[in-house]
Amino acid sequence: MKHSYQLLVVLLLPFIFQFLTSKADDLVYETFLNCMSSRNSSDHVSSLIYNPKNSSYTSTLQAYIRNQRFNKSTTPKPIIIVTPLYESHVQSTIICSKNMGMNLRIRSGGHDFEGLSYVSYTNFVLLDMSNFRSIDVNIEEETAMVQVGAIIGELYYRIWEKSKVHAFPAGVCPTVGIGGGGASFGVILSYKLQLVRVPEMVTVFRVVKTSEENVTDIFNRWQYVAEKMDNDLFIRLNLKPDHVNKTIRASFTAFFLGDSDHLVTVMDKEFPELGVKKNDCKEMSWIKSVLFWSSDDKAPLETLLIRSPSAKFAKRKSDYLQIPIPKNGIESIMQKMLELSVVGLAINPYGGRMSEIADWETPFPHRAGNIFKIEYSVNWDEGGPDIEAYYVNQTRQFYDFMTPFVSKNPREAYLNYRDLDIGTSGVGNNSYAEGKVYGQKYFKGNFERLVKVKTMVDPGDFFTNEQSIPVLKN
Ligand SMILES: *[C@@H]1O[C@H](CO)[C@@H](O)[C@H](O)[C@H]1NC(C)=O
Ligand SMILES: *[C@@H]1O[C@H](CO)[C@@H](O)[C@H](O)[C@H]1NC(C)=O
Ligand SMILES: *[C@@H]1O[C@H](CO)[C@@H](O)[C@H](O)[C@H]1NC(C)=O
Ligand SMILES: *[C@@H]1O[C@H](CO)[C@@H](O)[C@H](O)[C@H]1NC(C)=O
Ligand SMILES: *[C@@H]1O[C@H](CO)[C@@H](O)[C@H](O)[C@H]1NC(C)=O
Ligand SMILES: *[C@@H]1O[C@H](CO)[C@@H](O)[C@H](O)[C@H]1NC(C)=O
Ligand SMILES: *[C@@H]1O[C@H](CO)[C@@H](O)[C@H](O)[C@H]1NC(C)=O
Repeated sequence: MKHSYQLLVVLLLPFIFQFLTSKADDLVYETFLNCMSSRNSSDHVSSLIYNPKNSSYTSTLQAYIRNQRFNKSTTPKPIIIVTPLYESHVQSTIICSKNMGMNLRIRSGGHDFEGLSYVSYTNFVLLDMSNFRSIDVNIEEETAMVQVGAIIGELYYRIWEKSKVHAFPAGVCPTVGIGGGGASFGVILSYKLQLVRVPEMVTVFRVVKTSEENVTDIFNRWQYVAEKMDNDLFIRLNLKPDHVNKTIRASFTAFFLGDSDHLVTVMDKEFPELGVKKNDCKEMSWIKSVLFWSSDDKAPLETLLIRSPSAKFAKRKSDYLQIPIPKNGIESIMQKMLELSVVGLAINPYGGRMSEIADWETPFPHRAGNIFKIEYSVNWDEGGPDIEAYYVNQTRQFYDFMTPFVSKNPREAYLNYRDLDIGTSGVGNNSYAEGKVYGQKYFKGNFERLVKVKTMVDPGDFFTNEQSIPVLKN
């Protein structure tokens, strides 16, 4: 009797546990809903608040997961998702989460390479800002008010609807989000942007070179000119291994604020090694150039409004360079790319307007003195822990290999290519010493000032994640 009784308890244990957990979840939901309703009794806030039992919980959660690595059954899920419609809902969500001692993750819905905006290993509420996506372009003022849930493709499209000679330079991939305050200080609702003027016609080209076509010499020359060339010209360099032909393919993609004759003149004078001819160049409107960069300038403009790209598995890392890489270094880098096989590089020159702003004027510190930034990029299509480990390991090996060529003390990194490998700190308990490790890489000298602001505005470290700005404790 005694034995069978024990057996029964053991057999029932998982169900009892599940039952209690489920009851606890219900209680959390009820308490949260009560808190939200008491602050907003007049409207139906319950239709904006999801728990895992709501049928649309999973689709709401998955709608803005941009990296399949964080779309697994084992990925921690929010206890509650809130999709606010009004500012007051955002305020209530912060207060109710705080009252209940839950971590808050704020998701604007753009790219997020480490999933910090929707994954937390502590009990958490997901504040999903996807309803906040209005864009109000004012050509008289040359400004745009943009809410954080919008993507830059939508912004570009809405500017183009109002004017063919205005633009905003924010990035080349249309599904990058407007938002991204770093989530250390609060929730950003919208930005007021200063538009820039562009000519009715701009010029682009994409010229591809392989190892057999002097790519080392051309890359070498690019390092000396790209950052200093005409301020109206931007040339990005992408390198990827071509295993079929056992070579590296280097694509030079350019954007020029002028016509093709002028561009060829500039190229002949400053970068003749690339051998750009007039028939490599294409003149088009600025909005078409956005499509040229992201996919294909023949695609319909409405492509820019597509908010849901097909999500892949992805890992990113970044570096900054202040000193050109010697030629034998370039050769060894290309050799390593072929050897490792899956890492691609996207290299953006700095200089121009980027260098005119002092390091300390905004939190973003990577200014004059940087010749370019490297993005290490790996995307893959198939899930599984071994596959993931293989791809992530390749980026780490490549990053280690690059150490002698890149910035040091600190080894600088780009916040928007978020990379947890460079250091993390306890959630809700960020320590200054741990925070300094990644904080100086992302913000250099500005880190100390950010810590001061953080300590003033959020001493309890409510707005926290694995790489947030820490509070200075006495
Ligand atoms: C929600 O609550 C806030 C604060 O109590 C209030 O200002 C607001 O009018 C309420 N309702 C809505 C729809 O925002
Ligand atoms: C989720 O379920 C609760 C309880 O059934 C309900 O009150 C609420 O309206 C649902 N929320 C959504 C967004 O459907
Ligand atoms: C997440 O995974 C589910 C399968 O579990 C899949 O149906 C869905 O398309 C995935 N979503 C994204 C954004 O990758
Ligand atoms: C490579 O460079 C050499 C010397 O600078 C030049 O003679 C040759 O034509 C170049 N080859 C190609 C394919 O551009
Ligand atoms: C290999 O080179 C050939 C000839 O240049 C080219 O057509 C092909 O696309 C290349 N293969 C890959 C995988 O890029
Ligand atoms: C990558 O994997 C290899 C083989 O498992 C291991 O020896 C190496 O330490 C790993 N490298 C990095 C940088 O993680
Ligand atoms: C916060 O960190 C301190 C020091 O590392 C540790 O003693 C404490 O237990 C941590 N608190 C929590 C809530 O993790």
